[in-house]
Amino acid sequence: MPAIPVTPLPSGATMPTFGLGTWRMGENARRRADEVAALRHGIERGVTLIDTAEMYGGGEAETIVADAVGSRRDDMFIVSKVLPENSSQRGTMAACERSLKRLKTDRIDLYLLHWRGSPPLQDTLAGFEALASAGKILHWGVSNLDIGDMSELAALSGGGACATNQVLYNLTRRGIEYDLMPWCRARKIPVMAYSPIEQGRMLNHAALRDVGSRHNATSAQVALAWLTRQDGVITIPKASTLTHVDENLASLDLKLTAADLAALDKAFPPPKKAHPLEML
Ligand SMILES: NC(=O)c1ccc[n+]([C@@H]2O[C@H](COP(=O)([O-])OP(=O)(O)OC[C@H]3O[C@@H](n4cnc5c(N)ncnc54)[C@H](OP(=O)(O)O)[C@@H]3O)[C@@H](O)[C@H]2O)c1
Repeated sequence: MPAIPVTPLPSGATMPTFGLGTWRMGENARRRADEVAALRHGIERGVTLIDTAEMYGGGEAETIVADAVGSRRDDMFIVSKVLPENSSQRGTMAACERSLKRLKTDRIDLYLLHWRGSPPLQDTLAGFEALASAGKILHWGVSNLDIGDMSELAALSGGGACATNQVLYNLTRRGIEYDLMPWCRARKIPVMAYSPIEQGRMLNHAALRDVGSRHNATSAQVALAWLTRQDGVITIPKASTLTHVDENLASLDLKLTAADLAALDKAFPPPKKAHPLEML
């Protein structure tokens, strides 16, 4: 079983660099048992980070997480997210209470603003701070915030406590490498890379297959290893089959060589200028 490395957070605490995503879980009752089983399998194999959100399955994904985690709560690092429309100070606090109920827990390890909406960041931050003081969240962060929004957040009193920015990042979406990632790195804020295999759309790319064939690895494993080899990058592939969970976990053992990285750079060139942050 591959050991899962950890990444330091600005607070000095750490979080695992590899976890399980849950978007699209909880949308179909007939798939529920398989989704619980996939998450539970990951947990049994040593995964402790799970990423979810009040949005996913209209709250059902959080109940799936609760079922999968069961009595292992204290081993876990659970991330959930508040929707922008709920992100006023009071709305954030109320949304968190609902998530805690669905997750059957008394605290969320890392609570994120899912993307920016109309409430001022200051109000969401006030909600996060109140939740943290009450012990209901241990860390807070954001998602889908580009460099302008991150700078605005950092300038707020208490804004320096932001623990992560969860953004779309994979070999086919490298725009953040130009400015957002260096900005986060300079402040020791890890980036959580979502849709790390582009929801499966990148897996037939010849360069991924070629690099994979050098290591007897799959395209998904190459794409994940490319992310997790980078300091300050956490990834959360979603898998609802046991085979995909095992395959993705095994990517932690894949060490890409300089020649592999050069081939990947050639096929998926890094950005040469700033691009607005993309989101799914
Ligand atoms: N903050 C945000 O705005 C945001 C946005 C998007 C995603 N996220 C988070 O990031 C997580 C991951 O992103 P994602 O779900 O969009 O996409 P993803 O992880 O890139 O891809 C998930 C898809 O790939 C398939 N898959 C997984 N492992 C595979 C493998 N080894 N080989 C072939 N196919 C494989 C899955 O199928 P099966 O399910 O059939 O295994 C699923 O269809 C989400 O679940 C969510 O937690 C956050």
